[in-house]
Amino acid sequence: MKKFTLSATVAVSLACFAGTASAQVSDALVVDGTTISTSAPAADWLDIDQVLSGWSFRTDETRALQMDDFDNPGMIFVDQAIDDWNTVDGTAGKSCASCHDGPESFAGLRAELPRWDEAQGRVMNMEDYINVSRVEHMGAEPWKWAKPRMDAMVALLSLQSRGMTINVAIDGPAADMWEQGRELYYTRVGQLDMACSNCHEDNYGNMIRADHLSQGQINGFPAYRLKNAKLNSTHGRFSGCMKNIRAQPFGVGSDEFRALELYVASRGNGLSVEGPSVRN
Ligand code: HEC
Ligand code: HEC
Repeated sequence: MKKFTLSATVAVSLACFAGTASAQVSDALVVDGTTISTSAPAADWLDIDQVLSGWSFRTDETRALQMDDFDNPGMIFVDQAIDDWNTVDGTAGKSCASCHDGPESFAGLRAELPRWDEAQGRVMNMEDYINVSRVEHMGAEPWKWAKPRMDAMVALLSLQSRGMTINVAIDGPAADMWEQGRELYYTRVGQLDMACSNCHEDNYGNMIRADHLSQGQINGFPAYRLKNAKLNSTHGRFSGCMKNIRAQPFGVGSDEFRALELYVASRGNGLSVEGPSVRN
C-alpha cells in the first residue's frame, strides 16, 4: 500500500486528542430489569486492563435513551423485524415462524458470534445465519448486509441475548481468521496513516474533536445512531471509521471485515450483549 504520510496532517489529527478525564457518571446500565455489565476485566492477551462498553463514553442524554426501551429508537426496528419474522417469503412458502419457536429461541446465540460452524464449515455471524435460512430453508433471496431489513433482524435476534456475557471463541478452526483480524486491527492505513488501535486502544477516554473516544467495542451492535437515525451494522461502522482516516474501506461482508469483526468481538469478551444500543 502506498503510504501517504503527510506528517503535517498526522500532527494535526493527533493534536485533536485532548486528554480530558472521562466523566464516568454511572456504570449501571439496567434495561427492563436486566443488568448489563458495561465493564469487565480484559482478556490476558490484551494490552488494556479493562474492557468498557461504548455506552460508558456517551453523554447522560444518550445513555438515558438506552435505559428505557420506550425511549430507545432502535426498538422501532425490532418491531419491524417481528413483522418480517412472521411474513411468508420464498418458494418454500415459509416464514421464520414456520420453523423456529420464536426469536427467544435464539437466546445466547449473539453472545458467541462470530463463531465456527461445523455444519457450514466456516465462521458465521448473525447475517450469515439469517441468509442461510432464507436461501436454503425458505428459498428466498438473501438480504443485503448493512441494509434496513437485515439490520433490523440482527437487532431482534441480538436482543434475545441482552445482558448475556460475550464469549467469542478465538481458538480452534477460527484461530487463523482471528489472527488475520488482529493484524488488520493494528495495521496503519489511509491518508492519516492510523490503525484502529491508535484511537480505540491508545486513546480511548480522550476527546477527538467533539467526540469522546471509546474502545470501539461491538457488543452494542446493531447500534441506533442519532447522527443518521437508523440502525448501524458492525461492518457499516468499520467502514465509517476507515473513511474517517481517509482509507479505502473494505467491503461490507468482505473477508477482511469478517476477520476484523471476529477479532473486535473477542476484544469485548466479558461485556454484555447490548444490541440494539443507542449512540451519537
Ligand atoms: C424451513 C425451515 C426454516 C425457516 C423458514 C427458517 N429457518 Fe432458520 N434454521 C433452520 C434450520 C434447519 C437451521 C439449522 C438448525 C438449527 O440450528 O436450528 C436454522 C438455523 C437458524 C439460525 C442459527 C441458529 C443457531 O443457533 O445456530 C438462525 C439465527 C436462524 N435460523 C434464523 C432464521 C430466520 C431469521 C428466519 C426467517 C428469515 C429463519 N431462520 C427461517 C430452518 C429454518
Ligand atoms: C481517528 C480515530 C479512529 C480510528 C483510527 C478508528 N476509529 Fe472507530 N471510532 C472513532 C470515533 C470518534 C468513534 C465514535 C466514538 C466512539 O465510540 O469511540 C468510533 C466508533 C467506533 C465504533 C462504535 C463503538 C460503539 O460502542 O458504538 C466501532 C465498533 C469502531 N469505532 C471500530 C473501529 C475499527 C474496527 C477501526 C479500524 C478499522 C476504527 N474504529 C478506527 C474513531 C476512530
